Amino acid sequence: MKVTVVGAGNVGATCADVLAYREIANEVVLVDIKEGFAEGKALDIWQKSPINLYDTRTVGVTNDYSKTAGSDVVVITSGLPRKPGMTRDDLISTNAGIVQSVTENIVKHSPDAIIIVVSNPLDVMTYAAHITSKLPRTRVMGMAGILDTARYRAFLAEALNVSPKDIQAVLMGGHGDTMVPLPRYTTVGGIPVTELIEEDKLNAIIERTKSGGGELVKLMGTSAWYAPGSAAAQMVEAIVRDQRRVFPVCVKLEGEYGIDGVYLGVPVILGKNGIEKIIELQLNDEEKQLLETSRGHVKEVMDALDNINAAKA
Ligand code: NAI
Ligand code: 2OP
Repeated sequence: MKVTVVGAGNVGATCADVLAYREIANEVVLVDIKEGFAEGKALDIWQKSPINLYDTRTVGVTNDYSKTAGSDVVVITSGLPRKPGMTRDDLISTNAGIVQSVTENIVKHSPDAIIIVVSNPLDVMTYAAHITSKLPRTRVMGMAGILDTARYRAFLAEALNVSPKDIQAVLMGGHGDTMVPLPRYTTVGGIPVTELIEEDKLNAIIERTKSGGGELVKLMGTSAWYAPGSAAAQMVEAIVRDQRRVFPVCVKLEGEYGIDGVYLGVPVILGKNGIEKIIELQLNDEEKQLLETSRGHVKEVMDALDNINAAKA
C-alpha cells in the first residue's frame, strides 16, 4: 500500500511517522512546498527505522506529484495552522486555495485514491477537496471526529481515574465550538457514563472538549499535532486494512439526519472503499437542535468559500 501525506509540517510529519513505525503502509510519500523540508522529515523518519524496527519506505519530495502516483490513500494536511486569537474559520481563504490546488495534483496522479482532509477549517476544506476532486463522497472525507472524541475520552479518563482504552464515545457535527458530544452514547467499559459522573462535571468536560483545540493553541502558540497526526493515521489504517472501524468522520450528507449538501461529522463505517456506510442515530430533540446549530455554522462558512471562489472565477 502506498500513502501520500501532503504537508510535512507538525501534523503531516506526525502522521507519516505513525504510518511508518506502525507499518500501516509499505511506502509513505511526504510532500511539501517548502524546498527540502519533506525530504528532510522523510529521511529522519527513515533513519529511525533501524531503531524502531520497521521497513516502511519513507520518501520526501518538494511539490513533485509524479512521485505520489498510484497512491491508495492521500492525507492532506497542507495549510496554515491556527495562531492565538484566530478561529479555524479565519484560515478559510488561504487554506482553500492550497487544498484545491493540492487536490487537483493528487487526483491527476492518483485517480483511485481515497482522500482524507485534515486542513482547517476542516468541514469546509473537505467540501473544497470534494468538489475539486469530483470523486464520490465515499472517497473524500475529513478527520476531526476521532480527535475531538479522543480529547473527550482523555478528559473523562482523567476525571474517572480509569484507562482511556475503556471509554467509548461518539461526537457529531462540525469541527469547532458547535461540535455535538453525545453523553447518551458514551460508555465506560460498557457502563453509561451518566451512571459514573455527576452532570456538572460531565458538562464541564463537554465544554472543555469543545474548546480543546483552542486550549492547545493558547499553550503552544500553534495548533496540536500528536493527536491529530495519529488520528489521521488511524483512518488510513482502517482503510488500507479494511478494518470496518466505526469512527466519527466528516462527509457530505445527502439526506442523512435530514441534512442535505452540508459536510458534517457523523458516525461511519470505514473500510477499503472509504466510507462504507453512514450510521444514522436516533437523536433526541435536544441533540437534533445542537446538530442543526452546527449545520448552520458550517453552511455559513461553505457559503463564504463559494463567494470567494465566485469572486476569483
Ligand atoms: P504546519 O505549519 O506545521 O504545516 C503545514 C505545512 O503545509 C507546512 O510545512 C507548509 O510548508 C505546507 N504547505 C503549505 N502550502 C502547501 C502546498 N501548497 N503544498 C504542500 N505543502 C504546503 O501546520 P500543522 O500544524 O501541521 O497544521 C496543518 C493544518 O492542519 C492546519 O490547517 C491546521 O489548522 C490543521 N489541523 C487540523 C486538525 C483537525 O482536527 N482537522 C487538527 C490540527 C491541525
Ligand atoms: C485542533 O482541534 C486546531 O483543529 C485544530 O487542534
